[in-house]
Amino acid sequence: MSGEPISQAELDVLFEAARWAPSAGNSYPGRILYAHRNTEHWPLFFDLLVERNQIWCRNAAALLVFISRTTNEQNGRPLKTHSYDTGALWENLALQGTLSGLVVHGMAGFDYARARTTLNIPDDFQVEAMAAVGRPGPLTSLPEDVQARESPNTRRPISELVFEGPYRS
Ligand SMILES: Cc1cc2nc3c(=O)[nH]c(=O)nc-3n(C[C@H](O)[C@H](O)[C@H](O)COP(=O)(O)O)c2cc1C
Repeated sequence: MSGEPISQAELDVLFEAARWAPSAGNSYPGRILYAHRNTEHWPLFFDLLVERNQIWCRNAAALLVFISRTTNEQNGRPLKTHSYDTGALWENLALQGTLSGLVVHGMAGFDYARARTTLNIPDDFQVEAMAAVGRPGPLTSLPEDVQARESPNTRRPISELVFEGPYRS
């Protein structure tokens, strides 16, 4: 990422896409906490990251934390698909970010327990993941060993992913 800021209006487009994600029983368990760089909130989010993520996230424009409510707000019953629903919300946001020409990069490399206390996350929410959002930057803005990781990935072939009928290994 380039280190350039992104405006609140640009970020709101991503949040709008996230808002429209489907969820079981329209429970909408996902929530997003975020910080723009160069704000008082930024260090709270940045300091949660493991060092190998901090190396490249210093050029991000915003850091996000995705959390999901584990129980139904009305009746207190467990929401079986809260993580699944919040995963859909994150992917909506990531796809909109890509459409908007931004980099959106998910992260599990951060201190989940400290996120809960630092960001005041209530017990009935699960901390799911973080993401960095920014403008694409030159490869040379990354340290050399990190540059080597910036090559196209593959994916599991459909034959290993989709099964007609019961699961087969
Ligand atoms: C939930 C989740 C957690 C991830 N955690 C990290 C992380 O901590 N650090 C990191 O550099 N990439 C992390 N990634 C990024 C993935 O390793 C991978 O690079 C990303 O899904 C994009 O892959 P692609 O370039 O093939 O599209 C994470 C992705 C997801 C979805």
